[in-house]
Amino acid sequence: MTEPRDEELIRAALDAQQRAYAPYSNFQVGAAIRTASGKIYQGVNVENASFGLTNCAERVAVSTAVAAGDREFVGIAVVSRGGVAPCGACRQVLAEFAPALPIVMVDSEKPDQARTATLEQLLPGRFEAPN
Ligand code: THU
Repeated sequence: MTEPRDEELIRAALDAQQRAYAPYSNFQVGAAIRTASGKIYQGVNVENASFGLTNCAERVAVSTAVAAGDREFVGIAVVSRGGVAPCGACRQVLAEFAPALPIVMVDSEKPDQARTATLEQLLPGRFEAPN
C-alpha cells in the first residue's frame, strides 16, 4: 500500500533546504524527519573547507532528533536538485533507528513529483554488530 504523501514533512524539508550551508558543492540538501510523537526535525548539509568534514542533511536531522530524545522515526523527506537518494553513510545511520523507514525523495524544482522507497529497498544487508 502506498503511504499518503506527508505534505507537512515535504514542506519542512523544502524549508530547511533554504538554510543549507553548501558553498563548495553548491548542492543544497534539506531533510525533515518525522517521529512517532508527531514532531518533525529538520537538517541541512553543512559543508567545510576541509571537505571530508561535511555533514549530510539526513544525518543532521537524525542527530537533532536524537539529541531531543526523540528517536522513533516514521518517515523522512529529502529535498535536493534532482531529488537524489540518500548516500550510503546516511542509509546506515537511518537504519540504526528505523530499518524499514519510508524515504521520500523530492526534486526541489518539481516538488509534486516525489518518489518513495523504503530503507529496506535502499540498503539491503546493512551492517549489524555481531553478538
Ligand atoms: N549530501 C547530503 O546532504 N545528503 C546526501 O545524502 C548526499 C549528499 C550533501 C553532501 C554535500 O554537502 C553535497 O550534498 C554534495 O555531495
